[in-house]
Amino acid sequence: MSWGLKNRLSRIIQKDGRTLMFAVDHGYFLGAITGIKQPKKMLDKIVPYADAVMLTRGMVNSALRYDTSQPIILRADGGPSIAAEKNNSNKLSNHEIMITLEDAVKLNASAVAISIFVGTKHETQTMNNLSRMVSEAEKYGMPVLAVTAVGAELDAMKAQSNKKDKEKFRQYLTLACRMASEHGAHLVKTYYCKEGFSEVTGSCLVPVVMAGGKAGDPLGALKETYEAVKGGAIGVDMGRNIFQSVNPVAMIKSVRSVIHEGYRPNKAFKLYKSLL
Ligand code: 5RP
Repeated sequence: MSWGLKNRLSRIIQKDGRTLMFAVDHGYFLGAITGIKQPKKMLDKIVPYADAVMLTRGMVNSALRYDTSQPIILRADGGPSIAAEKNNSNKLSNHEIMITLEDAVKLNASAVAISIFVGTKHETQTMNNLSRMVSEAEKYGMPVLAVTAVGAELDAMKAQSNKKDKEKFRQYLTLACRMASEHGAHLVKTYYCKEGFSEVTGSCLVPVVMAGGKAGDPLGALKETYEAVKGGAIGVDMGRNIFQSVNPVAMIKSVRSVIHEGYRPNKAFKLYKSLL
């Protein structure tokens, strides 16, 4: 690993080995969803509490303060929208690389993010996106975060309650994370699973961060954060549970307390309520 790559990673992963990434890249396929309709003010308020902020180049250019000290993780792929997915299932996975490494360096990015869609029609294409991006990025000392197993279908898989389906979900996450790391990702982002998450993190060759998923009750999100870290994740890359919270600052501070201060979920939830 080159010095530049290690240096960039060290901006994202803190001295305690943990990280709180704030994900705000959703608009690249979902448009102006709740919480990011007017992103500038929201970013001004929340980004200072994050260790890194994940967003698109449009969001960086139009809404992120140029003097921000938080490292940027730049969404580097995309293409289809949620509208395309409605007309033709399997369309949303049709991602292509959308930015060059020069674009990322120009925006002073500390990492780039690429999604892979294991098990879909576009699995080979998106693996190829990841692998090509890793080859390019390594020339610049730029880490690549692979995003796997997030989205509506995966939300549904995650919500399954019977044992067999839970096991299938764990197997899927294990496969997708391992594949991402085999293809050279430096970090992997994936969903949390209740059963066997430590196998998901343990069989991935690089550090794993947990994606938050659909916004839910704050205590639930804090519990998942706690369990994910206990299960070997180095932290989270969380979006909607923060920016769609009734009080995003209270929420991100509480998530921080779990990741960096070892708060148990109930203590972190107490903190959240005290900040409302
Ligand atoms: C979409 C993404 C999002 O950043 C990801 O889903 C994390 O955000 P959330 O916590 O809202 O799920 O990568 O592909």
